[in-house]
Amino acid sequence: MLIGTATSAHQIEGNNVNSDWWHFEMKGRLKYRSGVACDSYRRYADDIKLMKKLRLNSYRFSIEFSRIMPDRYSIDYDAIKHYKSVIADLKRNGIEPIPTLWHYTLPFWFYRLGGFENSGNIANFIRYVKLLLKEGIDTKYIITINEPMVYAIKAYLNGRYPPFKHSFRTMLRVVNNLIRLHNELYTLLKKEGYTVSFAKNLLYFGKISKVYLPFGFSEYYYNKRFIKHSKIDFLGMNYYHNIDVFKTVRRKNKKTDMGWTIYSRGMRSLAEYYYHTYKKPIMVTENGIATGDEVLRGEFITEHVNTLVDMEKSGISVLGYHYWSLLDNFEWDYGYTKKFGICYVDSKSKQRIMKSSASVLKDLALKYG
Ligand code: BGC
Repeated sequence: MLIGTATSAHQIEGNNVNSDWWHFEMKGRLKYRSGVACDSYRRYADDIKLMKKLRLNSYRFSIEFSRIMPDRYSIDYDAIKHYKSVIADLKRNGIEPIPTLWHYTLPFWFYRLGGFENSGNIANFIRYVKLLLKEGIDTKYIITINEPMVYAIKAYLNGRYPPFKHSFRTMLRVVNNLIRLHNELYTLLKKEGYTVSFAKNLLYFGKISKVYLPFGFSEYYYNKRFIKHSKIDFLGMNYYHNIDVFKTVRRKNKKTDMGWTIYSRGMRSLAEYYYHTYKKPIMVTENGIATGDEVLRGEFITEHVNTLVDMEKSGISVLGYHYWSLLDNFEWDYGYTKKFGICYVDSKSKQRIMKSSASVLKDLALKYG
């Protein structure tokens, strides 16, 4: 099985100056600034060394659209070269590169044109992807979109992410445009021979067959609808926690620093349900915990990986597991206050220091990777 970690460009690279997030960070519209983040745009080779040391065999990361196309009609070929080097370096080290084409941040020009509210922008996104394909992205897997529902809700309903809107109708429009975008990308990428999915955040609301209104509504609209209307080769699943609507979980489950309850059985139920419904292999594209408690993080990782191993034994096809995240990084509207990493990053020197949970993931990678 693939065992590795996941990151995203804006959260680790630093100086993502052409993005909408950077713009609003500078304006003070967002509480925190990402700044140099983990400086991974420059230090990616250090990150890969770290993964190698940890014997990980997979890495999910994102390509930053706003670096590749800083303006509507300009292309930064150095940025393309950069990501090609990242991919080549990963491969040299025996690590499967799994790039995501879009993880929340948009080029500022794209945002000004209406982001994904504007269906006309689908063509602009396709232009970006065609460009990448022309230059050659040498990977087996590609993830098109990260967490379309989380994005649409936080950006268009809760107003926590740019463009800070509160409109149910606009949110639905964005979701539908993202479904269209994903399916167009799928067709394009399949022609080139890639194995394709999105990374879908799934929440466990309770036993799926028993879910009733209004949570049936959530189950359908939050979890299922995007999957149902999309073409995929495997199901990329980001799983963090459950929302115990029926109070069925007897054990007093621990909570993470995000206030999320730890419940690996939710991951199992969701994976089983979606595997049997759509017959596509499952890849955990993110799973993680924000905590300062390394014992708890270690237990969390072990519990989730063991659950996947067990699921494999029961006949479910599981492609891999990606812990979120390799490094403590920029946690969006929480800034640097939430610690998901298996490694610290020294705020001044940017040196990476392994936490004890890193060796837990290493042992699991040695055993199952
Ligand atoms: C996102 C990541 C984020 C993580 C922890 C996921 O929803 O894809 O960008 O850092 O959750 O909140």
